[in-house]
Amino acid sequence: MSTDTDPSGGRRGVFRTKPVEQSIRDTEEPEHALKKSLSAVDLTVFGVGVIIGTGIFVLTGTVAKNNAGPATALAFVASGIVCALAALCYAEFASTVPVAGSAYTFAYASLGELPAWIIGWDLVLEFALGTAVVAVGWSGYVRSLMDNVGWNLPAGLQGPDVEGGTFDLLAFILILVLTAILVVGMKLSARITAVVVAIKVGVVLIVIVAGLFFVKAANYDPFIPEKQGQIEGSGWDAPLVQLLFGYEPTNFGVMGIFTAASIVFFAFIGFDVVATAAEETKLPQRDMPRGILGSLLICTVLYVAVSLVVTGMQHYTELSISAPLADAFKATGHPFFAGVISFGAAVGLTTVCMILLLGQTRVFFAMSRDGLLPRFFSKTHPRFRTPYRPTILLGVIIAIVAGFTSINELATLVNIGTLFAFVVVALGVIILRRTRPDLHRAFRTPLVPLVPILSVAASVWLMLNLPGETWFRFAVWMAIGFVVYALYGRRNSRLGRGDTTVGR
Ligand code: ALA
Repeated sequence: MSTDTDPSGGRRGVFRTKPVEQSIRDTEEPEHALKKSLSAVDLTVFGVGVIIGTGIFVLTGTVAKNNAGPATALAFVASGIVCALAALCYAEFASTVPVAGSAYTFAYASLGELPAWIIGWDLVLEFALGTAVVAVGWSGYVRSLMDNVGWNLPAGLQGPDVEGGTFDLLAFILILVLTAILVVGMKLSARITAVVVAIKVGVVLIVIVAGLFFVKAANYDPFIPEKQGQIEGSGWDAPLVQLLFGYEPTNFGVMGIFTAASIVFFAFIGFDVVATAAEETKLPQRDMPRGILGSLLICTVLYVAVSLVVTGMQHYTELSISAPLADAFKATGHPFFAGVISFGAAVGLTTVCMILLLGQTRVFFAMSRDGLLPRFFSKTHPRFRTPYRPTILLGVIIAIVAGFTSINELATLVNIGTLFAFVVVALGVIILRRTRPDLHRAFRTPLVPLVPILSVAASVWLMLNLPGETWFRFAVWMAIGFVVYALYGRRNSRLGRGDTTVGR
């Protein structure tokens, strides 16, 4: 039974914090002794490598077609601003606690066990379902590539987003293969990562430059399509803000831009992963914001350019929803470009998928090492030294979810979870400045509390623009999280039991 004491002599109960020294000891394996070697440029390359993915390659087409038309470009700008504000908070949070890890680890050492649990539970949603979204996006491009050489999967195996499809076989297989790779502990070398980033950015640039030649001004008319009442759907798929204020649910128009922004937010996910490299950065106060904001800026510029080009090449009503960038080139009679783009997208998306899957297993592992989830999951493999149990369990579940679920449903759920984590992080920055002014902060958010408050407001605004049913699913997920914590984590927490031995 929990004694509810904090071995550091600090707070009790669900706000007990894990002493920083203990966090460090927990990760004190030789391979965790990180060198301070990263520069702003390294961080930017890493950032672009993690960030560019299914968001731009797939969701651009879906939101242009359903929510915003050519004004999708403005949605990317709005979403980029929300992320920049969150990034400034995230960087302080990540650099306050000098241990490598995720927001979960930082929160545990600073805010307390319950906020840490909430963030950890949220990150499971972000990383696990994010993996599924990227796998589904990858599958669309591989199918487009196969189509180039005349191979087609039976419709039933093309995934629920395709007419007549039920199960996305390729996404399912990709996740299982990546799971196996993570179990045996194969890592992407820095050189492979750099090559993949180059291919991915190269393909995006090809879309922008080559596509520019096929843009027709007529396709931009109207740039912001007139708002339309929603024809299909249960009503619950309308943005919560419309449901709350009793508007008739609509697509397009000015509100459509915000709906689109709340969906393409997915395209920016990953910059929070960059923040976790604070400990390895040479001059974090200077390089962390440069790295994070630099990668966000590069991605925003690329996203705006790509969405403008693609909606200029094809009328937004005709865009493909599974491989819009490649299919726009097919539609203009250039299958060669389409092939190159599909190939580059498939290569680029594989690594994003792998990084998200890896992030997910590490968070789960850390939570179980702390006793908040069963310790069964924190045993590493005797030979490969990897957390194989959570990797296999989650890999199989994610593969099945990816196989059967529509990409939009998955992406909106990932977004709401991630935005909620941003809210907690921004509030955490303000709280910690008051409660723990003594903690060393390698990076300090400018203009506290103004920037964190703006970040909370901006994140909540995007959340409100997500569908009512996404809120419902999110509420169910969080409720399950609270039950698991109340029934299991609170009692079994190693910290709560005063167990401060090094846990492996
Ligand atoms: N931002 C990443 C993507 O769009 C997760 O795939």
